[in-house]
Amino acid sequence: MADSTVLVVGGGGREHALCMSMHESPRVKTIHCTPGNAGTASFVTNHSVSASDVEGLISLAQSIDADLVVVGPEAPLCQGLADRLADAKIPCFGPVQALAHLEGSKLYAKSIMRAANVPTADYHVLNSNSDIEAALDDFSGKPWVVKRDVLAGGKGVVVTEQRSEARAFILESIESDGQVLLEEFLVGEEASMLVVMDGSGFVCLPASQDHKRAFDGDLGPNTGGMGAYCPAPVVTELVRQTTIDTIVQPMHDYLSDLSTPYRGVLYVGLMIPDSGMPSVVEFNVRFGDPECQITLPLVKSDVFDLLLATSQDRLSSLDIEFNTSHAVTVVLAAEGYPQSPKKGRRIHGVPAHHPASNTGAWVNHAGTGFDEEGNLISTGGRVLSCTAQAASLEVAVGQAYALITSLSLEGAHYRKDIGFRALTARD
Ligand code: AMP
Ligand code: GLY
Repeated sequence: MADSTVLVVGGGGREHALCMSMHESPRVKTIHCTPGNAGTASFVTNHSVSASDVEGLISLAQSIDADLVVVGPEAPLCQGLADRLADAKIPCFGPVQALAHLEGSKLYAKSIMRAANVPTADYHVLNSNSDIEAALDDFSGKPWVVKRDVLAGGKGVVVTEQRSEARAFILESIESDGQVLLEEFLVGEEASMLVVMDGSGFVCLPASQDHKRAFDGDLGPNTGGMGAYCPAPVVTELVRQTTIDTIVQPMHDYLSDLSTPYRGVLYVGLMIPDSGMPSVVEFNVRFGDPECQITLPLVKSDVFDLLLATSQDRLSSLDIEFNTSHAVTVVLAAEGYPQSPKKGRRIHGVPAHHPASNTGAWVNHAGTGFDEEGNLISTGGRVLSCTAQAASLEVAVGQAYALITSLSLEGAHYRKDIGFRALTARD
C-alpha cells in the first residue's frame, strides 16, 4: 500500500537519484526533497530548507509527518541531524553524529580502523612539536599524502612528489587546525564500495569506480567526481570477498557493538594493488556522488524498503537482489569547474523527466534551477549527469554519450573517457 512519506535531504545528482529510485516503490505515497533541484521539482515536492539547517530540517520532517528521512550529504550528519531525528522518533537513513566523524575526522577514522584491525595506509599525526622532516623522510621515495583532519569539501588532501609542497601544506594545516596527517602513499587502482549497514547486518552494493580528475586520462584538478560506472571489474569476486572479510565485516562488528549502531551507508574508498589485497583510502558516511546515480539502478529490490529497514535495524531480515546490468554516468560541468564555475546559464535539450524509466538513458539533475521566466539554468559546478543502464558497459557508455551530446550549456565540459579502465581492461 502506498502510504509512506519520505524526506530526502540535499539537492544534487545523488538526491535526484534517491528520489527516482524511491518513486518506483509501491509503498511510497509522497516524496519531499530539500532543497532539491529542477529535476526533483518535476516529480517530488521541493522545499527551501537548506541541507545544513538542522533545526529547519527537523521542523520540516515533523510538519510533513515523514516516515523516513534519507540524508544525502555528510554535513547535516556531522551536525547531529540523525541524533535529533531519533529524539523526534523519526526514522533516519544516515548515522548519528559520533559515527559521522568517520568522514568528518580522518584521524577518528584511522583510530577506528586501528581498533578494528582494518588495512589502511600507515600514518603520522603531526603538530607544532613534531619533527616534520623526519616524518617526511619516513615516507620518502613515493609521493607524500597530506590530509587535513577536518571536513574540507574535497580540498583537504594534497598528494605531491614535491617535498616543499608537502611541507608547506603540513605547516599551513597545523597552523589552521593544530594537527595534520601524513600518510603512506598507496599504489593501485581505486574503487568505491557502498555498504548499507545497520545493527543487524550489512549489504554490499555492487562496487563502482569514480573519475575524480577534471580531464581525460585522469589529468587535471581533483573534482567531486566527473563520472562513474558500476560494476567495476577491478573488484573481482576475490577482491570483493577479501574486502568483506578484512574491511566490511570487522567494521560492522565494531560499529554494531556500539550503543547506537551505524544506520546508513558506509562508503568504503578502496585502493586495490596488483596483489588484490585492498586497503581503505577513506570512509564517507553517505552515498557517493556520482556513485549513487549508477549504483541504485542496479538494485532490483525496493530501495525504499532497503533504506527504511536500515533506519530500523531490520536489514538482516531483507533479501536484497541486484540486476546484472551495467550503469554509467557522465557529468556535465560548468565552465570554470572546479575552480570557479560560471552559474546562471541556460541549459537546452534536457528531456522531460520520466521517473519510471530507470532503463535506457536519463538525466540526473544536480546544479540546476529555474530563472524568473521558468527557464532551466545552471546553479552549480556539476550541473547534471547523463546516466544510462544497459546489458553491457559499452552500450551504456554509448547511450550516456549520445544523451550528453544532445544537450547544450555554454562553456560546459565533460570527460570523454568515462569507463575507460573497464573498457580497455577487456581488450
Ligand atoms: P580522500 O579525501 O582521503 O579520499 O583523498 C582524496 C584522493 O587522494 C583519493 O581519492 C586518492 O586518489 C588520493 N589518496 C588519498 N589517500 C591516498 C593514499 N594514502 N595513497 C594514494 N592516494 C591517496
Ligand atoms: N564521488 C566521491 C564522493 O562522493 O566522495
